[in-house]
Amino acid sequence: MKIGILSSGGDCPGINATIRGVGKTAINKYGMEVIGIHNGFSGLLNKDTSKLTDSSLSNILTLGGTILGTTREKAFRKLLKSGKEDDIDLIKESYKELRLDCLVCIGGNGTQRTTWKLSELGLNVIGIPKTIDNDVFGTEITFGFQSAVDIATDAIDRLHSTARSHRRIMVIELMGHHAGWITLHAGMAGGADVILLPELEYDLEKVAKVINKRKKQGKEYAIVAVAEGIKIKESNDHHPATYISKKIQELTGIETRETILGYIQRGGSPSSFDRNLGTLMGGKAAELINDGNFGRMVSVQNGLVSDIPLSEVADNLRLVTPNDPMVLQAKRMGVYLGE
Ligand code: F6P
Repeated sequence: MKIGILSSGGDCPGINATIRGVGKTAINKYGMEVIGIHNGFSGLLNKDTSKLTDSSLSNILTLGGTILGTTREKAFRKLLKSGKEDDIDLIKESYKELRLDCLVCIGGNGTQRTTWKLSELGLNVIGIPKTIDNDVFGTEITFGFQSAVDIATDAIDRLHSTARSHRRIMVIELMGHHAGWITLHAGMAGGADVILLPELEYDLEKVAKVINKRKKQGKEYAIVAVAEGIKIKESNDHHPATYISKKIQELTGIETRETILGYIQRGGSPSSFDRNLGTLMGGKAAELINDGNFGRMVSVQNGLVSDIPLSEVADNLRLVTPNDPMVLQAKRMGVYLGE
């Protein structure tokens, strides 16, 4: 069998571990031929590929980013949505001309939706969920998430010393798109006093009350973790942290500064957890292909690597819920999360 692997959407630590997991399992266990498809689905259309071998897959486990390159796929999705016969044939022809028996698509929500569409067109595909946001429906966790939480937690740890020295409020904005997973987990691991998530309503007057109460207790600084996707009312600030920081300073009279952590959360070498999660998910993908079990997305269910139909994933998001154990524990301890 000949399989093609592509990575699509935002990069994150762990993609190369996953490519290595798929490739080495396919080659060494199942005797398959493996090619890498460059720059996401556009590489499929342009037949921009390279052969992957056991040796070319060595020394990539610890590398951040993706050796195959990636894109945001807007053009490809337009082709798919066009519904025009010749656009669809273009995709099918590329798959056929590459003589693929299966296409492995490593990506987030958008990618898994595209992968499902390709399955509907009759292509043999397997999806592997990837994102720092941890918001892919159908899997308990995605690789990239823990690495981002580790990076964000380290950043929050560093903010404590400068906040304490200057008796300031430090607001840090973390990634996650529409989901608050990174902010919730890094906020808790970093000991934030206030954690604002897209999924939970919040009130800045109450944020100010929490901070003033801390001050009365002699705690003259505070850490506020803010998810990039939170709703902010009257503001055209591109980053919510800029608005939140200004409002907190107005409401409390305490010097407040913001940090936008941004793409640092997507960079660098994957954590050991993400290396092994990517490796396990990659191996599972190769197993599904060998068994001819296509149209599936590899997933983690009850802590174990498994798989679900791609049709169940498309158009769904996995968001933080009010009864999430981490949310409940934060509230029990007096961390302000809104409401
Ligand atoms: O999906 C990962 C992510 O980093 C989000 O957290 C963030 O909102 C988005 O990608 C940024 O997109 P881009 O890399 O296209 O700027």
